[in-house]
Amino acid sequence: MDKKFPKDFYWGAATASYQVEGGIEDVDWAEAARRGYVPHARKACDHYNRYEEDFDIAKSLGHNAHRLSIEWSRIEPEAGKFDEGGIEHYRKVLRALRARGIEPFVTLWHFTSPTWFSETGGFERGDAPEVFARYAAYVAKELGGECRHFSTINEPIVYANNGWLRGTWPPFKRFSFIDFVRMTNSGKMHNRFSQKGIVPFLTYLRVRKNLAAAHRKAYVAMKKIRPESDISIVRDVFVFDANWNPINKLIASIMNWFWTYRFQNGLKGQYDSIGLNYYFHKTFGDRRKYKKSDIGWHIRPEGIYNALYMLSRYKKPIFISETGIADREDVYRGDYIRGQIRAVHLAIEEGIDVRGFMYWSLLDNFEWALGYEQKFGLVEVDFQTFKRTIRPSAYVYKEICEKNALV
Ligand code: BGC
Repeated sequence: MDKKFPKDFYWGAATASYQVEGGIEDVDWAEAARRGYVPHARKACDHYNRYEEDFDIAKSLGHNAHRLSIEWSRIEPEAGKFDEGGIEHYRKVLRALRARGIEPFVTLWHFTSPTWFSETGGFERGDAPEVFARYAAYVAKELGGECRHFSTINEPIVYANNGWLRGTWPPFKRFSFIDFVRMTNSGKMHNRFSQKGIVPFLTYLRVRKNLAAAHRKAYVAMKKIRPESDISIVRDVFVFDANWNPINKLIASIMNWFWTYRFQNGLKGQYDSIGLNYYFHKTFGDRRKYKKSDIGWHIRPEGIYNALYMLSRYKKPIFISETGIADREDVYRGDYIRGQIRAVHLAIEEGIDVRGFMYWSLLDNFEWALGYEQKFGLVEVDFQTFKRTIRPSAYVYKEICEKNALV
């Protein structure tokens, strides 16, 4: 039996500015690259200049929606000073999508911060929520006529964890439990920080709190200007569950609370919908062997059902804003997408309000600290010539998009 999706369901793919545009220099990630801490994105996919060509491809693949992010540093290059040229570029991008019948979903912030912000403390700053809301209000005023769906922040927990616990992303701060017990700091991460004991953990918690407040303040500011907009936050749901063992069950519940629910509860319902990014499903006590993607992550497409179920308690529409697989040879991607869409269909049948599905990513792109090695794209990109080549799995997805059904 065909698995039909609701009328007006959104099908598409996602990208993020720093990962695809190229030429973004005035941000923390580019600064970290200049210091040799992470790879440099440089021209990325040159999407900044080739967006029309890329949207033609998306259209040819049957997409009727597209998620992109706009680059804060292009729009507000100096604190409080907005650049009309910066915003005009995105106005054109949004019109190019609309001209092709593709509904835009715009994310305001996808991991990169202007250097004027990051070098003065970034999301550690006491006034970070106000600073972010000022930017959000400007975007709502300038782009709200071209776009209805906005997300404020992408994956707050992944960002805080990588930047302030694991120390693998800017600003490379690290909290290690062993260091905490010994009251020392091994300071391996670029030897930049020497805070000891509990302090780094408290800073991490402060960043999480500020990210939640930044979302809330941005939501209020944007709604005041564009009450008709649909404003969400993009949540990074890591699904933790367990085998029969009650201790494992307890660990899984604590992890879900700390990772997903605690933050979401702190948003106090100030959002119109939720974006779901799904990549991880961990079952404590599970000895089964899973196939792994190129990046080493377990291939568990059906876990997206659990992630949707977890978010359904908030009783808001859900858009799948990202989910994808690193698969250079394109051997797993088609089945992965089909497996996920089957699980999404089941969730909808059970009454969960899912409105769209956006695959990560339209293009191969810059995978943060891992550079260009990982290939998530429906479309392969040659980073020397910028030639685009559509992968076979993109046609598997195209059939689903065009039929609005899994056949
Ligand atoms: C992020 C993307 C990233 C993808 C794959 C998500 O966490 O939003 O920027 O490329 O996962 O790692």
